[in-house]
Amino acid sequence: MWIITAVSRIFGGTCSFLSGVLSNIGIFTWDFGLFLLNLVSFKRKVGKVTLSGVPGHGGVWPEYIPPTETDSRSACPMLNALSNHGILPRDGRDISYREMGEAIRNTYNFAPTFCLFVPSYMAGLLTRNSKKDTINLADISVHNGIEHDASLTRHDSLLQPDQSKPALDLIDDLLSSATGPNNTLTTHDLSVVSGRRRREARATNSSFTLSTFHKVFGSSNSSTMLTIFGGRVDDLQVMLKEERIPDGWESRIRDPFGLTFAAFNRTVFRVELGIDEKAKDSRVKQPEEDVKV
Ligand code: HEM
Repeated sequence: MWIITAVSRIFGGTCSFLSGVLSNIGIFTWDFGLFLLNLVSFKRKVGKVTLSGVPGHGGVWPEYIPPTETDSRSACPMLNALSNHGILPRDGRDISYREMGEAIRNTYNFAPTFCLFVPSYMAGLLTRNSKKDTINLADISVHNGIEHDASLTRHDSLLQPDQSKPALDLIDDLLSSATGPNNTLTTHDLSVVSGRRRREARATNSSFTLSTFHKVFGSSNSSTMLTIFGGRVDDLQVMLKEERIPDGWESRIRDPFGLTFAAFNRTVFRVELGIDEKAKDSRVKQPEEDVKV
């Protein structure tokens, strides 16, 4: 009897693994197709990036209401902003993965591939079914899921267990490091600030961890500031500190099929490969054993 159970489990596990692999091959092939279509299509006109019929069209966003103590919020400022404007449920609870993907597509103009893949990936991390189950925003903050140490907008979870709270000092440090034209963050700026954060977190957090995988997640999250937000410090001040979409704002991605993984990954790897975790920096506190008296 146990042999039948074991064989059926192995068979079930293998089938689900293979269906996951096939589904990922499908998504990334689709993504590359959208990337090519974007190359040969006209961009959306400035002022018309948020399509008519969806919240934010013409830069008019639904009312911003900051969260109450009982609302669910996450380590992701951009998902929190969607709930703060009522584009996702204001209490941040019982959100379907599909509704989350649609809100990201409509608001930020990420490609449908991203909007399908990332929420489903999150569902997998939480061992939930992305077609039937729902998510509360706070669930997203599970430590070392996507959330990790050395973030640019949150203190590490050891120091700040409630990861929904923006760290205003870190955000100030990030935004004051902008060196691009018209007060914008550049790829190099993000690499510099990320390197500084990693060195500082390693030195001050006794349970610091950051796998290669989480480093790439970190650079992916921060790269949205360069792509979707065009690095614009004025907009990021509002988005990161208040988790509010500025009046008149629209995504800086004007491609009609949205920001694909194929296009996005170029920025992500430029940020990640530019990070020097060993550079000396007077703004970083040294660990006690390294401090010479
Ligand atoms: C279902 C989709 C998404 C999920 C599951 C997700 C998840 C997360 C998580 C867990 C974090 C915390 C990472 C950390 O510890 O640093 C985070 C941060 C962040 N996310 Fe998202 N996110 C999503 C969509 C988005 C979108 C659409 C944007 C941009 C428009 C975005 C931009 C950011 C930014 C800028 C950060 C802050 C990074 C930092 O503090 O270093 N995310 N996200």
